[in-house]
Amino acid sequence: NPGEALKIMISGAPASGKGTQCELITQKYGLVHVAAGDLLRAEVAAGSDNGRQAKEFMEKGQLVPDEIVVMMVKERLLLPDAEENGWLLDGYPRSLSQATALKKFGFEPDLFILLEVPEDILVERVIGRRLDPVTGKIYHLKYSPPETEEIAARLTQRFDDTEEKVKLRLRTHHQNVEAVLSMFKDITVKACDIIPFLSLSLSHIHNFVYIDGNGSKEDVFAQIDGWLTKLLEQRKATSESL
Ligand code: AP5
Repeated sequence: NPGEALKIMISGAPASGKGTQCELITQKYGLVHVAAGDLLRAEVAAGSDNGRQAKEFMEKGQLVPDEIVVMMVKERLLLPDAEENGWLLDGYPRSLSQATALKKFGFEPDLFILLEVPEDILVERVIGRRLDPVTGKIYHLKYSPPETEEIAARLTQRFDDTEEKVKLRLRTHHQNVEAVLSMFKDITVKACDIIPFLSLSLSHIHNFVYIDGNGSKEDVFAQIDGWLTKLLEQRKATSESL
């Protein structure tokens, strides 16, 4: 619907840059960033029952069971800020059952973005990643170093960011990605590339885009920004023609 807030899903292998791009997208578009991994880590930090159970799977690089994840994400998407400002769903759905559940609850994206990055680069990104517990900002010791000594001194590392664990996370990703894509790629033609407005006149059809995630974070964002701008322009044109 032309006047509705944007709903975007972003997917990709571990360390493909989802969180980094989500920071840039939310800064520009004001969408609410809903990251399944962040919601789970908050549960782990709070020491809840769900958190304790989730941590066992996260440590093995496996998917946390649907009983925990599905309701958690659904409840977050239903909060008023996400309904009002639109949402940017990061790292969810990661399995066919999660994708089916989302659809059943009526959450359909306007755009599904898949970040593609070669595997050797992913491992290097994971190992150098650091997080600022105060601001939540994502850094990389080499590619995105902290701005000050003070920030550098307080950076932390995720418990699943070791070479051994990222290999397990990558395996899980490869096992599931095709099933998820099959839900969102039912139009493999990039509709709006071929016939402008086609994707909107057939509103049950999703826009699906592959993004080359192997550039600088600014270059990757420029590609995503291009798609989001296009989407908003299409909407504007559709609402003007109504
Ligand atoms: P989650 O937290 O989602 O982790 P992930 O998918 O492994 O992805 P990451 O957060 O590691 O990476 P990212 O793509 O956000 O990359 P980032 O921007 O940080 O999930 C963790 C666990 O939770 C899962 O293993 C699973 O157990 C569980 N879980 C999560 N969702 C679930 C679900 N739906 N169902 C069941 N279980 C679930 O970038 C990485 C690094 O690279 C950073 O240091 C960054 O600075 C750097 N970087 C980013 N972009 C660039 C660039 N363009 N150039 C150079 N460096 C860059």
